[in-house]
Amino acid sequence: MHKQAFAAALALAVLTAAPCVRAQTGDTKTAGEVYKNITELKDTPADQLTPAMQFIASSLGVECGFCHVQGKMEADDKPAKRTARQMMAMTAMINKTSFGGRQQITCYSCHHGSSHPAGMPPVLESDAPMRSEAAAAPRPSGAGATVDEILAKYVEAVGGADAIRKVSSRTMKGEILTGGNQTPIDLFTKAPNQRISISHMGNADSYTAFDGTAGWLGTAGRPARAMTTAESAAAGLDAEFYLPLRLKEIYPQLRRGRPEEVGGVECEVLNGSAPGHPSVRLYFEKTTGLLLRMVRYADTPMGRMPTQIDYADYRNSGGAKVPFRWTLSRPNGRFTIQISEMKVNLPIDDARFRKPEGEVR
Ligand code: HEC
Ligand code: HEC
Repeated sequence: MHKQAFAAALALAVLTAAPCVRAQTGDTKTAGEVYKNITELKDTPADQLTPAMQFIASSLGVECGFCHVQGKMEADDKPAKRTARQMMAMTAMINKTSFGGRQQITCYSCHHGSSHPAGMPPVLESDAPMRSEAAAAPRPSGAGATVDEILAKYVEAVGGADAIRKVSSRTMKGEILTGGNQTPIDLFTKAPNQRISISHMGNADSYTAFDGTAGWLGTAGRPARAMTTAESAAAGLDAEFYLPLRLKEIYPQLRRGRPEEVGGVECEVLNGSAPGHPSVRLYFEKTTGLLLRMVRYADTPMGRMPTQIDYADYRNSGGAKVPFRWTLSRPNGRFTIQISEMKVNLPIDDARFRKPEGEVR
């Protein structure tokens, strides 16, 4: 992939990792106030417009240019944009009249990644036998482990609470892997919840950070930008230094879901939602107890967007096990971070995590 395109893909993947939190502040501007030509989304918070657009593009399997004239986003020149506006009204109407206002039908329900929804079931492409009913039936969930047991096993699996608390900072070097590209990355994390990653792409370093309260993004030579409330909540979860010990506090209402397989490995599943935090679905390997996957959800005005993080290569580092490799996948982007070097308990100044005034150096 071209460097620029890669940078854009990566930035998008980071920027859109926004969770399921609506802007709550009363002084938030609406999309109608901020943008030039908005009718359907005029009353939604302005910072929800971009996530809504990304949801639409992913649902139809198209790029922004399918509906927009580049550099003139407000123009209604393309018929697809006008159709899309009608489709927004239609979708809202279906949900209102048939589903009591709940967002059950979205663009994706019909479009499934195509601009022209299929109206007919497809013919069989091979003469393989139809799936038997037994295979399709949901597996019984059984009695199984309780939420507390699953969490306790996770804490044990990574070394136990005491070992976890002995580490209070991690300084990492590694690479971002995507589409055959490798980009060096430095990561600094500090208890209880500070994190900054710096990717070294060409000559412009880019920053993604959470200072313990709020997140920011930046590229060297340009002013840093504060994350939206929703982006901050997602970044805050990533920054949780003692995540295994904190899950129950962050999500007091964790519920057990039906066990599922992740890459052929049987997992216990927990679902959590809490105000101010993204809704999550957590997958713990049944045999080892380790967290293999976290899916978090971002509410957009058009529907929910998932962000999936798969954790791998757990290694002992300073007495506690942490993943040295993780893959972040979204409908519109995917990359893997592989850590090659991790040092624990080096002093890291809080200032390192703070959003710079003015341009990022
Ligand atoms: C399937 C069509 C479609 C796609 C794809 C699409 N948009 Fe839009 N976009 C719209 C429609 C329709 C509106 C107007 C919404 C309204 O009236 O409430 C809009 C409005 C906007 C606006 C507001 C412009 C203004 O000032 O009035 C921006 C910015 C925007 N889109 C960005 C994007 C971006 C970025 C992407 C790609 C991630 C994208 N859109 C993909 C249909 C689309
Ligand atoms: C209930 C099913 C359904 C839902 C929900 C739906 N669509 Fe469609 N959409 C269709 C069908 C069917 C067509 C094709 C019409 C045709 O072929 O003339 C279509 C066509 C379109 C087109 C025109 C494609 C082209 O090539 O010009 C756009 C753009 C579009 N939809 C956007 C959306 C957006 C955005 C949403 C969500 C807000 C959405 N649709 C939700 C059924 C749906």
